[in-house]
Amino acid sequence: MQIQDKVVVVTGASSGIGAATVKQLVASGAKVVFGARRTAKLAKIAADLPADQIAYRATDVTQLADVQALVDLAVLQFGKVDALFNNAGIMPTAPLAADHRQEWQQMLDINVMGVLNGISAVLPVMHRQGYGHILATDSIAGYKVFADSAVYCGTKFAVRAIMEGLRQEELKNHIKTTLVAPGMVDTELYKTIADPQVAQDLVKTWHQPEHSLRPEDLADLVVYAIGLPQRVAINEVKIRPAGEL
Ligand SMILES: NC(=O)c1ccc[n+]([C@@H]2O[C@H](COP(=O)([O-])OP(=O)(O)OC[C@H]3O[C@@H](n4cnc5c(N)ncnc54)[C@H](OP(=O)(O)O)[C@@H]3O)[C@@H](O)[C@H]2O)c1
Repeated sequence: MQIQDKVVVVTGASSGIGAATVKQLVASGAKVVFGARRTAKLAKIAADLPADQIAYRATDVTQLADVQALVDLAVLQFGKVDALFNNAGIMPTAPLAADHRQEWQQMLDINVMGVLNGISAVLPVMHRQGYGHILATDSIAGYKVFADSAVYCGTKFAVRAIMEGLRQEELKNHIKTTLVAPGMVDTELYKTIADPQVAQDLVKTWHQPEHSLRPEDLADLVVYAIGLPQRVAINEVKIRPAGEL
C-alpha cells in the first residue's frame, strides 16, 4: 500500500467519517488538506495532528469558490492533489408530504452540487498532473429507496450516476474513481433530521455496535482504496454492518 506523502483533500471533515478518515490518512503518512463549515471542530482535529502533514480551512461545499480554495490550498502547501474525498453530506429525512422544501434544496446543494463542485475544482489540477483519484461517500440509499428518505435517496442515486459517468469519462486521463456506499454508521448525521423523535430513534439504533459501523471502518476502506497501485481501481463498495438487511 502506498499512502506515504500522497496529498489528499477531504470535505465534510469536522466529524464522523470525514474526521476519522483525516486521522487515519495522516497516521498512514499522507498529507491531508481538509475542510467543513465548523472551523472550531477542524481546529480541534488539527491540534492532535502533526502540523507539517496537514492544512485546513473553512469550506462550504455548496460554494464552488470555497471548494476551489481548499484544492488550491493543497496545491500551494503540498504541490499536488493525489486524491479528493467528496464526503460532505446531510440527511434531513422526512416524508414528502411534510413538504420540507428548504431541506430538499439543501440536500441537493450539499449532497449533489457539493460533489460536483469538488469535481469541478479538482479536475483541471488532475488533468495537468496526468493522474488523480476522486472518491465520494454515497450510501446504501444510493441503491435502495427508503420511505421518508426519498429526497436523500435521490441525491445518493444521483451521486452514484455522476461518479460512474466520471469513471467512464476520465479513465483515459488516468483519473480513478471510488464510490463508498455505507449502511448505517454511528456519526453525527442524525443531527440533520428536523423531527426530534425520528432522530432519537435512529441514534438509538446507531449506538448499538451490532447495528452500525464505526467511522473508522470507512476510514480504513478509504485509506486502502487510495493506497492501491495506479493500475488498480476500486470503483464501488457497499459496506454494511454484517447484520444489516
Ligand atoms: N452515518 C451514516 O449512517 C451514513 C450512511 C451512508 C452514507 N453516509 C454519508 O456519509 C457522509 C458523511 O456523513 P457522516 O455520517 O460522517 O455524518 P456527520 O458526522 O454529520 O458528518 C457530515 C460532515 O459533512 C459536513 N457538511 C455538511 N454540510 C456541509 C457543507 N455545506 N459544506 C461542507 N461540509 C458540510 C459536516 O461538517 P460541517 O457541519 O462542519 O460543515 C460534517 O463534517 C455523508 O455524505 C452521508 O450522507 C452516512
